[in-house]
Amino acid sequence: MLYGAFALIRSLVCGDKELCTKQSPSKPLRMLDHWDNADGSIERGYSGNSFFFKDGRLLVNERSVTYARLLASVGINAAAINNVNVKGPATKLITDEYYAPLSELSEILDGYGIKLFLSLNYAAPMELGGLDSADPLDERVAAWWEERMRETFAALPGLGGFVVKADSEGRPGPFTYGRTHADGANMLARAVRPYGGRIIWRCFVYNCQQDWRDLKTDRARACCDNFEPLDGLFDDNVILQIKNGPVDFQVREPVSPLFGRLKKTNCMAEFQIAQEYTGQQRHVCYLIDFFKQVLDTRMYTGEEKDTVGDIVCGMTAVSNTGDDFNWTGHDLAGANLYGFGRLAWDTSLSAEQIAREWICMYYGRDAELSDTVCDILMRSWPVYEKYNAPLGIGWMCTPGYHYGPDPDGYEYSRWGTYHKATHETIGLDRTPSGTGMTEQYNEPLKSIYAHPEKCPDELKLFFHKLPYDFRLQSGKTVIQHIYDTHFEGAEEAAEFVELWKKLEGKMDGGRYERVLSRLIEQSISAAEWRDVINSYFWRKTMIPDEKGRELY
Ligand code: GCU
Repeated sequence: MLYGAFALIRSLVCGDKELCTKQSPSKPLRMLDHWDNADGSIERGYSGNSFFFKDGRLLVNERSVTYARLLASVGINAAAINNVNVKGPATKLITDEYYAPLSELSEILDGYGIKLFLSLNYAAPMELGGLDSADPLDERVAAWWEERMRETFAALPGLGGFVVKADSEGRPGPFTYGRTHADGANMLARAVRPYGGRIIWRCFVYNCQQDWRDLKTDRARACCDNFEPLDGLFDDNVILQIKNGPVDFQVREPVSPLFGRLKKTNCMAEFQIAQEYTGQQRHVCYLIDFFKQVLDTRMYTGEEKDTVGDIVCGMTAVSNTGDDFNWTGHDLAGANLYGFGRLAWDTSLSAEQIAREWICMYYGRDAELSDTVCDILMRSWPVYEKYNAPLGIGWMCTPGYHYGPDPDGYEYSRWGTYHKATHETIGLDRTPSGTGMTEQYNEPLKSIYAHPEKCPDELKLFFHKLPYDFRLQSGKTVIQHIYDTHFEGAEEAAEFVELWKKLEGKMDGGRYERVLSRLIEQSISAAEWRDVINSYFWRKTMIPDEKGRELY
């Protein structure tokens, strides 16, 4: 009834001729992960502050209801409301300090078919329970969790379960006690099982204290190295949450090889619509086509249905919402929120179909307006990629903040994110002669990625260390590709401003001005990316641009 009502509204607004439709969701779990902190800030939040928390308090108000309706209207049925980095008061969400407002929120969400999830602090038995350990095989620890979950689910019967970030970026986890992630996840899974709860265990586990001089360790391998050996050892109410790519939400990455390696474990895909590395909702970057490509990638598991979309039982996205009037800071970032939900509901929809729908719902049915906005949205991810780090290398952004260019910003850091550019070559060798990461894929992906010629151009520098005069499949050399794409990307970003100006008078309520000002900022920032990246490579290589354009 709920989804049918929204489908009917959508059809009426979009002017569909056929109002009668029969649908069922592609994936049972369609989720949002909010990285909201108890103090009201949002980790990687670009749309104001949290509407869930303020000064350590949980907020339940009119916006909670609007939020629930917003999510349900695109088919989302689960939401984790607090940051995966659970610190300070957020650890106490599983105590009676928060039960009353959480129960109110849970009921509101429930009314819209949405399960409330919380992120857990793995060290809670120590921080809340006064134990001297969080060892998953210590009976006292398991008993503590059992008791806590009994109380929590009694107070919050609608709770769906918990998301856990363990042994990652300084968060506690089972490694401290020499235990595995299966030990950790299963202990929690058993504590929530009597209440139908689920444990969503994140696979974002890697060494973030790497020495950049160490040429053997490869962060991109870590996810598979840590989790593949545990396949089949997780309880059936555990779901492994795997980021779409092997590193971290860059504008371009191959799919995570782990999707193709788990045969006996539930898993879901984690995307990021918060545009941490893709312009922070100050640039337009409609990501749905990228997500769609990930879902459509075949993993060659030997099963008949073997795409990422076939393999996962659900999808989640790091949310791009906040307390800004328009929810997502950039009005056009609303298309990512809408689009993620629609894609999770129906993975067969195309990015353009979804964009057209969103435009209709948000701006109305004017054909010129629809064409222009659709053109901008559909080009925005390729354009962002053009002026960003080239050919899948990633990470040429300002460290920590992740906005704007800084080609060597992460080059000598501890985060395992290096491009290794010299005056002759750039890229990491991830083939068997290098870190061997390509071996984590099943054939034929393994051979395709390991072969410098066969590897798709857009991933060349992710998998290979190549000379600047290496010829891509496009016929261009690596260096000329870098120059050309950066000039093109900045030009297209400037063109978005002109295209938008044609829409003046076609929308009200500040919607025209809000987007215009962001597009202007984007075009300035894109020009900065162009000049910094191009000058960096020009100075490294002293290879001139074939077209003689200005380099600095
Ligand atoms: C990225 C991001 C962090 C976040 C982490 C995660 O590294 O920069 O802010 O905590 O991902 O996914 O846990």
